[in-house]
Amino acid sequence: MKEITIASTLLVAEHIRELGETDKMLLLRAKEAAKDAYAPYSNFKVGSAVLLENGHVFIGNNQENAAYPSTMCGERNAIFAAAANYPKVPIKSVAITVISANKGVDKPVPPCGACRQVIYENECRHQNNIRIILQGDSGAIYLIKSVKDILPIHFDASYL
Ligand code: THU
Repeated sequence: MKEITIASTLLVAEHIRELGETDKMLLLRAKEAAKDAYAPYSNFKVGSAVLLENGHVFIGNNQENAAYPSTMCGERNAIFAAAANYPKVPIKSVAITVISANKGVDKPVPPCGACRQVIYENECRHQNNIRIILQGDSGAIYLIKSVKDILPIHFDASYL
């Protein structure tokens, strides 16, 4: 038996002013989108903004349901909206943030496993890396160059 190590590198910005203009714009669009989330059950409002290679931006937010599993995450709503409108255009970046009424989240909010898988599918679909920008209510921002960095062992069509 042998041991393998899986490592990834990401950038951490302590303040939004360290970001480039496009990333800053995308994160602010995500923050705006979070305000309109429908999250009466969790009070955890997730906002996302997706930048396409053609410059279009699509936003999404979580949409909860009294039948809890019928809920859809904010980033998946943004990604699906982008893909529905521009199926041939690769996604360049996805920003994800939160407005939490429960407690202030002062660290970057990570996408759930299902959302990582959906981002990965979109990387495979267009054969590009998708940058991910993460922030909580406040605090540091993570800049990730590909979802593969946070989904290191990834399932795709090659296994089918
Ligand atoms: N949520 C997202 O929108 N994205 C994630 O990646 C994690 C969780 C939502 C789903 C639910 O409405 C609320 O956050 C609490 O889980």
